[in-house]
Amino acid sequence: MIDNETNLDSYGSAYRIIRDIELFEGRYFILSEEIFNEFSLKTKDSPEIKGNAIIAHDLDESQQTSNEVRDLSELESFHEKIKGCLRCELGGKRKKFVFGSGKDNSDIMFIGEAPGEEEDRTGKPFVGAAGELLTKIIEAMHLKRDDVYICNILKCRPPNNRDPRNSEIASCEPYLVKQIELVKPKVICALGRFAAQTLLGSNESMGRLRLNSHSFQGIPVVATYHPAALLRNPQWKRPTWEDMKKVRRLCDGVEL
Ligand code: URA
Repeated sequence: MIDNETNLDSYGSAYRIIRDIELFEGRYFILSEEIFNEFSLKTKDSPEIKGNAIIAHDLDESQQTSNEVRDLSELESFHEKIKGCLRCELGGKRKKFVFGSGKDNSDIMFIGEAPGEEEDRTGKPFVGAAGELLTKIIEAMHLKRDDVYICNILKCRPPNNRDPRNSEIASCEPYLVKQIELVKPKVICALGRFAAQTLLGSNESMGRLRLNSHSFQGIPVVATYHPAALLRNPQWKRPTWEDMKKVRRLCDGVEL
């Protein structure tokens, strides 16, 4: 805890504070402007600072090869800003906030429903059985998971994986809208009826949604079956593959 009593006049105590934050929050963290400004007394061995990102030396100095400095991307900064969200009751129940993963400026964005148990535990989207199938689908498109961006409508797990409530969607949707704005994908793939209906403001069935062209804020949206539904209904894999080819064509600009 940093307060006015803390002696920031000496580099030594400032450095100890940074190390404490690093231990608590990991190598990348955001400093308040007040603390950031204190680092104007930077010395040769002090942590390096760039933009609002700061990186302290490794705790194990022997393993340190360089003082790697990386600005937090806008998306990472946004994640930092919202990861403590308590806008709806799901915030108080989660283990981890599941923001999203993948390439910050990916051409393809997959959007699912909400984290499940495994996602809540790890803080990563689509890592359970449905996630494994999604990874296979992405690889069948000759892409890697890290080439695309994956997130959900809701960032916190609904208890027992119940359907998200309207109030929860209303609280969380602005986060998704901002994520889309920052990633700027060329095409969005909505995974499952819930994601598609929410994104498109529609009540239509998945059967109908997949047959039509849609867009969200000017970005083409392809609606397809949720990987969890594919595990239960393997006969939907074929149409899903057709949808993935459409995603690819839209991404490559072959289909408008
Ligand atoms: N289902 C989803 O919709 N999202 C996940 O992250 C996992 C399962």
